Amino acid sequence: AANPDYDLTTGIDPNGVGLRQKLTSYGDAHFSLFMRKLFIKAMGYSEDALSRPIVGIVNTYSSFNPCHANIPQLIDAVKRGVQLNGGLAIDFPTISLHESFAAPTSMYLRNLMSMDTEEMIRAQPIDSVVLIGGCDKTTPAQLMGGISANKPIIHLVTGPMMPGSHQGVRVGACTDCRSNWAKFRAGAIDIEDISALNEELAPTAGTCGVMGTASTMACLLVALGMMPIQGATAPAVSSARLRMAESTGAHAVQLAKSRLQPQAILSRESFLNAITVLQAIGGSTNAMVHLMAIINRHPALAGTIAPATVDAIGRQTPLLLDLKPSGENYMTDFHNAGGMLALLHQLKPLLHLDALTVTGRTLGDELTHTPFRPLPPDSPANCIRPLDYPLYPSSALVVLQHGNLSPGGAAVLKASASKDRRLLRHSGRAVVFEGSADLAARIDDPELEVDADSVLILRGIGPVGNPGMPEAGLIPIPRKLAAQGVLDMLRISDGRMSGTAGGTIVLHVSPEGADPGSVLGVVRDGDVVVCDVEARLLNLEVAEEEIRDRIERRQREMVGDKAEPWVAREEARGYHGLYMREVNQAEHGVDFGFLTAGGPRAVVKGVE
Ligand code: FES
Ligand code: MG
Repeated sequence: AANPDYDLTTGIDPNGVGLRQKLTSYGDAHFSLFMRKLFIKAMGYSEDALSRPIVGIVNTYSSFNPCHANIPQLIDAVKRGVQLNGGLAIDFPTISLHESFAAPTSMYLRNLMSMDTEEMIRAQPIDSVVLIGGCDKTTPAQLMGGISANKPIIHLVTGPMMPGSHQGVRVGACTDCRSNWAKFRAGAIDIEDISALNEELAPTAGTCGVMGTASTMACLLVALGMMPIQGATAPAVSSARLRMAESTGAHAVQLAKSRLQPQAILSRESFLNAITVLQAIGGSTNAMVHLMAIINRHPALAGTIAPATVDAIGRQTPLLLDLKPSGENYMTDFHNAGGMLALLHQLKPLLHLDALTVTGRTLGDELTHTPFRPLPPDSPANCIRPLDYPLYPSSALVVLQHGNLSPGGAAVLKASASKDRRLLRHSGRAVVFEGSADLAARIDDPELEVDADSVLILRGIGPVGNPGMPEAGLIPIPRKLAAQGVLDMLRISDGRMSGTAGGTIVLHVSPEGADPGSVLGVVRDGDVVVCDVEARLLNLEVAEEEIRDRIERRQREMVGDKAEPWVAREEARGYHGLYMREVNQAEHGVDFGFLTAGGPRAVVKGVE
């Protein structure tokens, strides 16, 4: 019998599944399908296989990316899940970003990855997509692109690495990378120790094993409803991770049939749930930026949630999870204590349980129907605290929305990871550094005029000032003070900090110092800076008129000065130019304006 696909008297359904999607490449729909089929048959697929719903699998494997080293096995397991359920699984690559191998920073490339993901999802004839990722920028980039493309998506993370061991003490990337490096700088451990630690800090494949950005984003994907509840914590090298991959494949076939799109799953309530979880896990400050970018990709929600919302929810949300850097444990401990399932059960009274999830059921339904047996609350293995006995009463992450130093409203501080709580209400004299090079050149200078009460300010590391907004906000304690035993100081910057780091560190100040209109850009050595966490205040104690004078003078001097990134960006070429001209500030997500739901001319509102 004649094949109806090539029978010119029959119409081809433009909303069809699989290879019949969007048959426009060659003008003639029947010819387009004929061409598609002949080419994909070269991969060995039969007509039977090609008649199934197609589940795309995004492959972000790279030999430069140990966080994604298990992706080949995960793809196999996802394919098994798809094929056991009657779909056809086809994997395809997008770029791969690892934190240490993406100069100048992985953040610089996050939006490129989101564009790659969005356009490849849109271009190819796939009915649903499994987004496999894990390292810090990957999951947000994939969700941003996925929301914009708005085909059915489901996330699968690669999972956390196992902890290593040094001298009988468990260690893991990357809180212990930083704390041990600080000890080495202060002379507390020697070169043999630091070399041995280098072998043990990342002992297996997988993402950083503490509550850094990768783990935070994995937990948020669950809270948003974009990943099954048990998907966040199973170790990268566990069989549980592979079984999760297989079941994700099965879910993806369901999604291909139900056509449940991310814009339909995600609601305001999903984001409020994500913010509640962010506060309860003591999540990474970077998640603030990613969450804003993700929200602003959603046409119905863009501009309706701001950093201030995160602060407001924080006031009612205790920190329950005892994980580094806010606490003591590792992701494997969280997994063994029940992972997100156990945490969400604790958080139930604070959650919107009717928010939809990728399974088509609500979060409440998922919690009710997933078998769960909590650890005894007094078990030493339990790193999840009950609501009435938290690790930190509320506001693990605070947004310093008042005062003149960060009027954009993005300045964030992980109060739960402060090492000297007296600094949460502090006033001191500024010691200002102009970018990372200046910092590196002077911070350990024995002549530097600095004491333990000084406020270290680093500017020029914002989205435009140092493209990619590097994780340089963890300003080191000057060596001479570290040697005296100073462990923490109030530090402020327009940059970011690794989610695995701690200290009294204010980040994401906006507008950034490179902006000719910014207050941060005109702070001088010796100016008094006040930080009062209780009052959510970050203020430069300089008269308004004097600040205005300084800004006007700076703007006059800046005109035509090509050494100023803000000025030079107009002429930069390539992706660099695109980034420099289009990137927005931290409170909007450091996304490109033209990628947000409203498009290039949209003004993202700052609404609580
Ligand atoms: Fe990839 Fe930490 S470097 S998750
Ligand atoms: Mg990181």
